[in-house]
Amino acid sequence: MRVHVALTPGEFPDLALGGRAALVVDVLRATSMVVAAFDAGCARVIPVAGAAEARERSLALLPEPVLLAGERGGERIEGFDLGNSPLDCTPESVGGRNILLTTTNGTAAMLKASQADAAAVAALTNVGAAVRWAVSMGRDLMVLCAGDRGGFSLEDAVCAGLLAEGIVRAVARATLSDAAQAARCLGILYGARLDRLRRDSGWARHLEARARGADLDCCLRLDTSGVVPVLANGAITAGPGALTWPAGAADTRWGRSASPGANR
Ligand code: MLT
Repeated sequence: MRVHVALTPGEFPDLALGGRAALVVDVLRATSMVVAAFDAGCARVIPVAGAAEARERSLALLPEPVLLAGERGGERIEGFDLGNSPLDCTPESVGGRNILLTTTNGTAAMLKASQADAAAVAALTNVGAAVRWAVSMGRDLMVLCAGDRGGFSLEDAVCAGLLAEGIVRAVARATLSDAAQAARCLGILYGARLDRLRRDSGWARHLEARARGADLDCCLRLDTSGVVPVLANGAITAGPGALTWPAGAADTRWGRSASPGANR
């Protein structure tokens, strides 16, 4: 099994994903939000490029219940139901619902990942489960870091590195590209002290300065979820580890999802 990490979206246009598995990573905050949405029992997340497309697609989905979610510059898009915070995802707000999601970097990476034969969503919060998913695919793996407006993003590289490290530990003959090896070193360095990312990551500092520290608490944690949302045919659905959503069971689900790792 060969593992490559695309450290910036600048690599995406030349990346051939046919015959491969892909994991998409946007720790702050798009993929962390998607994991949280499935922990809270959402039905589907549909990634779209922009706000206008989200509004159009929501009309086409009627009468299915659909929420518009997303951000630009880290702030909720005007008129949308949800922003891009994992804390927006409670069983009451998203349980059983479809979400149309558009974010600055994360959804573009999701759309690219959907070109792979098998694709799924990874964050620090589900990194162990995402490693198990990737190993079970038995294919070469591309990890796509959403980055920051085309550039490098430290927290995504750290998460990609923890994925690479998990795969090397699980698959004796796994080989890493140089970029995957570099990410692995960052994963090992920061994995034991994720809190340092609050200070060292530019986007973490941006979010902290805008009173989004609670989002950092939520996103910069390891393995609080066992869910691996999978991407197929333009939509993300609950993958392995997800609980099915029983209609009208909000209280039970709330109790469960409030406790870290409850879905494992
Ligand atoms: C993105 O997709 O660009 C990020 O998730 C932005 C954010 O944290 O709001």
